[in-house]
Amino acid sequence: MITRRDFLVAGTAAAGLVSAVGSPAVHAAEKAKKYRVGLVGSGWWGTNILAAAIQSGTADAVALADVDKNQTAKTLKKVEELTGQTPKTYVDYRELLEEQKPEIVICATPDHWHPLVTIDAVKAGAHVYVEKPVSHTILEGAAMWKAARAADRKVQVGTHRRISPANKAAMEFLKSGGAGKVGMIRAFVHYQGGAGQAVPNSDPPEGLDWDKWCGPAPLVPYNRLIHPRGFRSFLNFASGQLGDWGVHWLDQINWWAGDNQTPKMVASSGGRFVRQDNTDAPDTQNVVLQFDDFVVEWEHRLYAGNAPEHHNVGCYFYGTKGVLHLGWIEGATFYPGKDVNSEPSWHADAKLHQPDQQNIPELWADFIDSIEKNRLPLCDIEKGFRSTTFSLLGMASLKLGRSVQWDHDKLQCIGDDEANRLLRREYRKPYVYPEI
Ligand SMILES: NC(=O)c1ccc[n+]([C@@H]2O[C@H](COP(=O)([O-])OP(=O)(O)OC[C@H]3O[C@@H](n4cnc5c(N)ncnc54)[C@H](O)[C@@H]3O)[C@@H](O)[C@H]2O)c1
Repeated sequence: MITRRDFLVAGTAAAGLVSAVGSPAVHAAEKAKKYRVGLVGSGWWGTNILAAAIQSGTADAVALADVDKNQTAKTLKKVEELTGQTPKTYVDYRELLEEQKPEIVICATPDHWHPLVTIDAVKAGAHVYVEKPVSHTILEGAAMWKAARAADRKVQVGTHRRISPANKAAMEFLKSGGAGKVGMIRAFVHYQGGAGQAVPNSDPPEGLDWDKWCGPAPLVPYNRLIHPRGFRSFLNFASGQLGDWGVHWLDQINWWAGDNQTPKMVASSGGRFVRQDNTDAPDTQNVVLQFDDFVVEWEHRLYAGNAPEHHNVGCYFYGTKGVLHLGWIEGATFYPGKDVNSEPSWHADAKLHQPDQQNIPELWADFIDSIEKNRLPLCDIEKGFRSTTFSLLGMASLKLGRSVQWDHDKLQCIGDDEANRLLRREYRKPYVYPEI
């Protein structure tokens, strides 16, 4: 299987287009207030966010929580290298909230834990930087949004592509009519890869509290394909490629559409046609989302790239003047001709940070600014909730084997009790599903 990291390395070398930018000016932030920050979910991405926060000069990393002590140990080492300080570590994030009273919580757990952590954190008085997708079911996302407003706390969602320079330039290009009238957007992530191999269940490694890791989701046997990092391909904890990568691109479309539109009808098909490992997310999926005056299509396949179209990742905005490709490492490119082999007439380079080619420092700076100016952050929870809803409606349709009609004001599938049951899930006791 080709991982995102493999893709990054290959893509970076091949494309030669990446314009990596250095760390943001720590000097500018030398006199900035340092917020007491607690990290919940000390894995790959949580460590990236915390490192960017520390490097910005606005974060005092006071505590780390993870249900896996092996993960906390790695992040602790990184924080010690960056700051010379040793934050306190916790297994249960609720003890972190209680004892440390952080001003900011970064939540980078697997998806199924985002709602409870975020809601508990805002209730405890913290602003929250939470990762995408915001939740595993739609009504949890609504509850997070309402809880943020009720507690008057800022909740920034980690969809950093909204602040990426190439994406901002592309959005201006589209809004100024550069691509003409757009009627269709196709979003996609395709990776070449094999069928994979099943891995037997085993005892959890020492230091991992597996019961707490599963938390409100069903308690399943430990399997090393699930943790660390593999949860995205298991539907008890996440929503596969659509819920993982898909939310980034659906969020770009939500942004382009003005953050106030939702699909009236969503239909998805797909399945597991190729993969033979013990993940259970679809290896092939497409989703059609019907909006008032445009249509969105999502596509992914986990075993074949997209060579004829040259791009494996991103969105094509199809307009009367040509096709805009909004990508990641490739930046954004406009093709005015009939196909992608035509000469581009406009391009914006990606300007991304290492590690892992992202724009977390800019999004963190926006988050701090939103707290200090008492305004909504750029990737406010309401927007992240809406973008996540697009993907979760796709998962609901796939599960049902038919389309669903959505009413976002009522947060209901119209006249469809079966679909409405999928808007929430049973939580494992003693966890309690968050009510709006
Ligand atoms: N914005 C982006 O570009 C981007 C990129 C990668 C990952 N992510 C998101 O970041 C999140 C984490 O992904 P990852 O790849 O870092 O996974 P990971 O497995 O490396 O890290 C998740 C960590 O959370 C821990 N955890 C589980 N339950 C917990 C709990 N109750 N309390 C504290 N810790 C708990 C796990 O033990 C693990 O160490 C996901 O939501 C993912 O979608 C976002």
